[in-house]
Amino acid sequence: MAKTKSVFVCQNCGSQSPKWIGKCTSCNEWNTFVEEIIEVKPKAVNSVVIGLKSSSKPQLITQIEPFDQVRIDTQNNEFNRVLGGGIVPGSLILIGGEPGIGKSTLSLQIALSLKDQKTLYISGEESPQQIKLRADRIGIKHPTCYILGEVSLESIIAHIHEHKPDIVVIDSIQTIQTDKLESSPGTVGQIRESAAMLQRLAKSTSIPIILIGHINKDGNIAGPKVLEHIVDIVLQFEGDHNNVYRILRATKNRFGSTSEIGIFEMMNSGLREVPNPSELLISHTDDLFSGVAISCCIEGIRPILIEIQALVSSAVYGTPQRSSTGFDTRRLNMLLAVLEKKAGFKLGQKDVFLNIAGGIKVSDPAIDLAVAGAILSSNLDVPLGKRSCFAGEISLTGEIKPVGRIEQRIAEAAKLGYEQVFISKYNKKNIVKNGQIEIVYVSKIEHLLNHLNQ
Ligand code: TYD
Ligand code: MG
Repeated sequence: MAKTKSVFVCQNCGSQSPKWIGKCTSCNEWNTFVEEIIEVKPKAVNSVVIGLKSSSKPQLITQIEPFDQVRIDTQNNEFNRVLGGGIVPGSLILIGGEPGIGKSTLSLQIALSLKDQKTLYISGEESPQQIKLRADRIGIKHPTCYILGEVSLESIIAHIHEHKPDIVVIDSIQTIQTDKLESSPGTVGQIRESAAMLQRLAKSTSIPIILIGHINKDGNIAGPKVLEHIVDIVLQFEGDHNNVYRILRATKNRFGSTSEIGIFEMMNSGLREVPNPSELLISHTDDLFSGVAISCCIEGIRPILIEIQALVSSAVYGTPQRSSTGFDTRRLNMLLAVLEKKAGFKLGQKDVFLNIAGGIKVSDPAIDLAVAGAILSSNLDVPLGKRSCFAGEISLTGEIKPVGRIEQRIAEAAKLGYEQVFISKYNKKNIVKNGQIEIVYVSKIEHLLNHLNQ
């Protein structure tokens, strides 16, 4: 018979201790230990690895039959793209994101879009009536989409076996509870055990399961790394609450690359796919403003043109203000220091505000040149040419460093009608001349300033 014992588990990192401790020794968080009853099972049952029988033997890699991957087309190009071309049968997909970002909306939309499939949407957070209301807003009619309000894992599994849906959504993993453990839902033990059981179920039945997971204050999926190890795909759904754009990115994908992103717009009728984000992230005005520069960034593997807005004004207080949205403030400070040293920009007396349009966060270093361009343009109060854009990284020496995938960036700028692109001189050797767009090579930050002063 299975024995039970209790351990204390850190709710942040999952490490265990036989006694309660105030500070976790592995993640250094305070007050995260919660007592959990665990069941000690006979060893053989404990095997999580599916299909690995004791009779299995090593095979030559050349003799292994390729896995017949018929992916399920979700009818949503952005979602398909992030997954690597659709849902692989039997996969366990985790969608994480802040509350209210649109995880439930996205999953319900996927469940409703799969027209020829039987879908099962299980919610422990909302009642079937609430889900029906949401489905009416989304406005997709689906005759074989079933809704179930349930939190018990055992009964969820029984329903899945009975109904045999083609795809299952569980909203959310934090509300699911297994009878095997006595701890409350949302604790690390519950999440780990539930996810492991769902993984076994998905693998044994080939039914793909989409799990929704909340994230904690640090931005990690609550119930933490343990969950990310179990699932096949981890998707992060992110965006600014005050803005309508949402980005879906894969941080782990056993069936595809993690470099793709999907962009959505939150509308009154659910999430709309944004196939051409550049056009949306640039303001469409005929007037020229100073302090605006367009950057050719690469997000995932797609080139995107993003508008950078800067405002430089005289500091009123002793310590000048530095504020940025969507761009790392430390990087901004570093760029300002380079501009002071190399371009005579007196940053000690100026307030600098920086904003990336659309509430998008950009980590591509190629954005530096556009940031510097926007700051210089605002400082001099000289608009940059309306049809110019930028792609280059700035080093501490003020040198403009080359960036990757320059051809793709230039092609995107040309496609959107830009007439001039500023790039690093050191990218020159990679360029095949593009007739539609003038390429301006710069090697130092001073060159950019000279151009502005012309
Ligand atoms: P939701 O999917 O409930 O977020 P999550 O599951 O991540 O907590 O979406 C929440 C927000 O989305 C909510 O504030 C309202 C908004 N929304 C729309 O703007 N349009 C819609 O059609 C829907 C369904 C939601
Ligand atoms: Mg929700």
